[in-house]
Amino acid sequence: MIVLVGFMGAGKTTVGRLLAGQLGLPFLDADAVIEERAGCRVPQIFADRGEPGFRALEHETIAGLLGGPDAVLALGGGAVEHAGTRRLLLAANVVYLHVPFAGAMARVGGDAGRPMLARPGLADLYQRRLAAYEAVATHTVPTDGRQPADVCRDIARALGVNVPLSGFSRTEGAGMRIGMSLNYAGGFAETVTELADYEKAGLGIVFVPEAYSYDAVSQLGYIAAKTERLQIASGIFQLYSRTPALTAMTAAGLDYVSNGRFTLGIGASGPQVIEGWHGVPYDAPVGRTRELIEICRMVWRRERLSYDGRYYQLPLPPDRGTGLGKPLKLINHPVRERIPIMVAAVGPKNVALAAELADGWQPFFYLPEKAAEVWGGPLAEGLAKRALGPLDVVAQAPLMIGNDVTAYRDLARPFLALYIGGMGARGKNFYNTLARRLGYEAEAEQIQDAYLDGRKEEAAALVPADLLELTSLIGPEGYVRERLAAFREAGATTLTVTPLAPAHADRVRLIEQAATLAA
Ligand code: S3P
Repeated sequence: MIVLVGFMGAGKTTVGRLLAGQLGLPFLDADAVIEERAGCRVPQIFADRGEPGFRALEHETIAGLLGGPDAVLALGGGAVEHAGTRRLLLAANVVYLHVPFAGAMARVGGDAGRPMLARPGLADLYQRRLAAYEAVATHTVPTDGRQPADVCRDIARALGVNVPLSGFSRTEGAGMRIGMSLNYAGGFAETVTELADYEKAGLGIVFVPEAYSYDAVSQLGYIAAKTERLQIASGIFQLYSRTPALTAMTAAGLDYVSNGRFTLGIGASGPQVIEGWHGVPYDAPVGRTRELIEICRMVWRRERLSYDGRYYQLPLPPDRGTGLGKPLKLINHPVRERIPIMVAAVGPKNVALAAELADGWQPFFYLPEKAAEVWGGPLAEGLAKRALGPLDVVAQAPLMIGNDVTAYRDLARPFLALYIGGMGARGKNFYNTLARRLGYEAEAEQIQDAYLDGRKEEAAALVPADLLELTSLIGPEGYVRERLAAFREAGATTLTVTPLAPAHADRVRLIEQAATLAA
């Protein structure tokens, strides 16, 4: 339990919500719980029962919450007035959010929802309470004029909990986070309702794809509203389909509506979609990814956007437009200045770039036994230049646990045949090249020949059995446990699984098993 105390206007609610999102804990606002219990708003409670009545109710509520499940708990500014509450707080993790009197008044002055503001001698009250906050707090963090994300970082540091800048709340040596890609074959609203069950079962992050289907942003916004702790991510936005500034604004917007739970997944996609669907030249994916990342982080730092890159020049130079473009900065203060960025990459240059600049990397066909051989070089090259925290490696695998489930491996055949055979043209298919690098030279060629000739079933039948086996988590529990360990040893930190059971309850159980085994 992390308890936040401080004077009215210290930012307890804002900071508490953000911190809870980052730590994957529920957020509790003592005042909101009191209002729910009393069935009316705080000023009404003051009017009906006087301050002593309010304090008694407040004390009872806080005592109950402190004894309940782990959470980030924000207390009302006057909670420390009650001796019993002060005693309880001495045994808790309490962070005092400090704001000078003037700063507090600037934020809340004149708020009719706070009866204490109407009292005479407010400055004296403030002084008196300072000592009480300090007495109960284990740590003090200043909030005046600071971004909530910075305050959260200080709190995490003070308490020794790991909330890296990236928001990937994973510690060294810890287990893998389990993710899922949103699959709404059963209807969108139902699927999102089901997410709550997955969240309870231990799901850590959900990725929403965006190929040339419905856009991912509207769905992510909806999911943000319907979930509380789950991290949400684009999986992925195509590099070329939004301007860099719009990508940055979209990520900031999704981070805002989700209270700091968004990860910006980006990827180059391929020329078929980019040139075919968007009508935009598919050029320089690696150089553009680098510049896009730099621009996004400038926007989130609220710097004036004046960027002279090789691929993006902002504002547009006068000889290419009207000359009226202005260097602007994001109007809002984003919830987090450092929204995590995950890059989907398979080519060596792009992988090196992800390892250097991104918070996360999403490979494809992460075959644990061959990972070092195929990716080791580019990863080492990028990591050598890296100035960020640990890289989140987001591997993917279909999942099914049972004694008689090997036939499930074959379900992935058409999918792998499509990627190895049908994605891209002959000589320009990243996945085909990757399959060759993994050691399936002859098979990759045969699959592509069959697929591009229209013999899709034959292509599917040609997918090597050991490729299917090694890239999936399908088999008895002991076997799946071993494969999970293999993924972890090969550097995966997040595993995006596709539970293959047909019934929702069984899929939830699979996520629960995977989360337990991966922990
Ligand atoms: C109070 C602060 C309020 C609320 C009540 C009393 C106080 O909470 O509990 O109006 O005595 O300072 P906030 O600190 O969240 O405004």
